[in-house]
Amino acid sequence: MPPTWAFPEGFLWGTATASYQVEGDNANSDWWHWEAQPGRIRGGDRSGKACDWWGGRWAEDLDRAADAGQKALRLSIEWSRIEPEPGRWDPAALAYYREILLGARSRGLTPIVTLHHFTNPQWLTERDGWLNAEVAVLFERYVHQVVSQLGDLADLWITVNEPNVLAYSGYAAGVFPPGHTNLGHALQVMVNLMQAHAAAYHTIHSLQPSAQVGLAHHVRGMQPERPHCPLDRLVAWARSATFNEACPRAAQDGILRLPGRRVTIPEAVGTQDFFGLNYYTTEVARFDPRAWNELMARSQYPPGAGRSPNGFMASVPAGFAHALQWARRFRLPILITENGTEDPGDDFRLGYVLEHLHCLWNEIDMGAPVTGYMHWTLVDNFEWAEGWNLRFGLWALDPRTQQRTRRRSVDLYAEVCRSNSLTADLMDRYAPQVLERLLGQMKADPGARGQL
Ligand code: GAL
Repeated sequence: MPPTWAFPEGFLWGTATASYQVEGDNANSDWWHWEAQPGRIRGGDRSGKACDWWGGRWAEDLDRAADAGQKALRLSIEWSRIEPEPGRWDPAALAYYREILLGARSRGLTPIVTLHHFTNPQWLTERDGWLNAEVAVLFERYVHQVVSQLGDLADLWITVNEPNVLAYSGYAAGVFPPGHTNLGHALQVMVNLMQAHAAAYHTIHSLQPSAQVGLAHHVRGMQPERPHCPLDRLVAWARSATFNEACPRAAQDGILRLPGRRVTIPEAVGTQDFFGLNYYTTEVARFDPRAWNELMARSQYPPGAGRSPNGFMASVPAGFAHALQWARRFRLPILITENGTEDPGDDFRLGYVLEHLHCLWNEIDMGAPVTGYMHWTLVDNFEWAEGWNLRFGLWALDPRTQQRTRRRSVDLYAEVCRSNSLTADLMDRYAPQVLERLLGQMKADPGARGQL
């Protein structure tokens, strides 16, 4: 019998999106202003209409998702639309999000709503952004508005997407607004983000006791480049402790452990109902005393790992296994809130998806309590500092004409969503090299479950 790898009954299959990347015309957002500055976005790209969801094309894209067997949609709300000026709420924006959420539900797509996905109102960024001492209060006030108005349509909430990436990219690497290159600022932003998350968590539960609330954590495996070198081991550990572990641990025990600093956030204790995991890839780190903002480590992709066409992503499914094993320690249900790769040609993606889904199945089979998987992403969209250069969509998009084109990955993923399983036949049709590797391993070690 050719093998079948079946997922648990009721497993939630969907895709993940983010408001700024798909909506277009977000003129009150700090990213809109950032994009306009020369040199910020690769090739001078602009988000423009993005996927034109604000112009109404969300409806056709949600049709596509539902027709392709998907059962969930992760989407986000744009703070700058809800509160275009401090304390002024826009009822039309709230009404439009209502329409989108109703549209998702009527198509059988369970909405998973992110309240902050990288972008801020421009007025906040002009007032020190996430360094503003009042930011947690301001964020909580916005969350209160959204959940009191839209809470009847959603009960799965993500307060903040990737607090580690937001802090690092905006305040240490300087590639997101406000463009600071100061490690101390980035660490303070992590404190403020976790305070804001905790405040939002309690507000959501006070409005909606049955809500399930979490964060989407970007977990990037970090291995020493030279495993026998103690300095590489030390910097890989330090990077991982700060980048991967600090936020989820703070949401568990209320202590944010940063380099040289422990911050107690008592209100953050136990503020995750599920563990949202964004996994893309893994890196190896080498000690470099000059890389001060990078915690003295230079990192790169593991030599030998398969690379996406633009070299932006390496496929390291074993890192996904490690991330899942590590996430289990938090003793929470795990939701894969993002996983995917750029690939305009869609050859690399087919293998990437199958390798990662097989790995996910394996970890679930070993007891990982994973409830669902959101592929990043539904349609090619505006990829932050990389602009339109990187294509992560199941559907391709030509942003000039708004024309969507179905990639083969749509059909691969639809088969998985519909059958709730992976089969040898499916692998053989879409990425035979993955099946060959798996079967080779299973033959060599019949007791093995096939660990890619
Ligand atoms: C994540 C981010 C998404 C998307 C993705 C692909 O870190 O949450 O918005 O850009 O990476 O690079």
